Amino acid sequence: MGRVTTADLWHHYGRVRAERDHAVPDSFRWSWSQVDGPGAEVLGDLAGKTVADLGAGAARHAAHLTVHHVPARIDAVDASPAQYAMATALYGPLAPRLCLVHRDVVAHLHAHPGAYDVLYSVFGALDFTDPRTLLAADVPARTPDGESATLRRWVLQEYVWTKVLDEAGFAGIRVEELPAGEGSRAATALLITAERSDAPV
Ligand SMILES: C[S@@+](CC[C@H](N)C(=O)[O-])C[C@H]1O[C@@H](n2cnc3c(N)ncnc32)[C@H](O)[C@@H]1O
Repeated sequence: MGRVTTADLWHHYGRVRAERDHAVPDSFRWSWSQVDGPGAEVLGDLAGKTVADLGAGAARHAAHLTVHHVPARIDAVDASPAQYAMATALYGPLAPRLCLVHRDVVAHLHAHPGAYDVLYSVFGALDFTDPRTLLAADVPARTPDGESATLRRWVLQEYVWTKVLDEAGFAGIRVEELPAGEGSRAATALLITAERSDAPV
């Protein structure tokens, strides 16, 4: 029987970069490589909007939007204690416009129905939260002690995303495949946008 663990499997993610790079990023990229492809314009004009980043990690994307796109507020939500601590150390001073929230996104959104104008996720909670218990795949990870572990990740095909978003009442569903870029760890990414104006999120 497998060992049940509650270890923070995001303990190591972004840690090396967080030690040397404390800057607010100059750009926002949706692609896996983070060097090219579409940017924050995908989200529309954020001026005065209330925004949430679902699975924000160290909150680099949210910090960029806070500084360069003057939203009313961005809530950078993440369930990982390690990621929340990293985000706090890096971007805590951007409060109150940037609000770091240590919570599971499902619980957070249920607690704040209709609170947001714009929601986004960059390889974040949408990837790691069961949309309909479909297409599970395990991703290697490490506990803080260095032990091997796995994470469940839902890598949905375009038609499945379209179907589950449509069934959840979203309209204007657009899917764009972003090229992989260079490098041995390059991967293509799906950029998915949709709107739901008649129901709270
Ligand atoms: C691959 S990281 C991406 C982080 C960040 N968006 C980035 O691009 O650097 C995935 C993040 O999603 C967070 N996450 C996954 N499922 C979550 C959930 N249900 N609620 C809140 N955060 C979640 C993890 O804690 C982790 O920080």
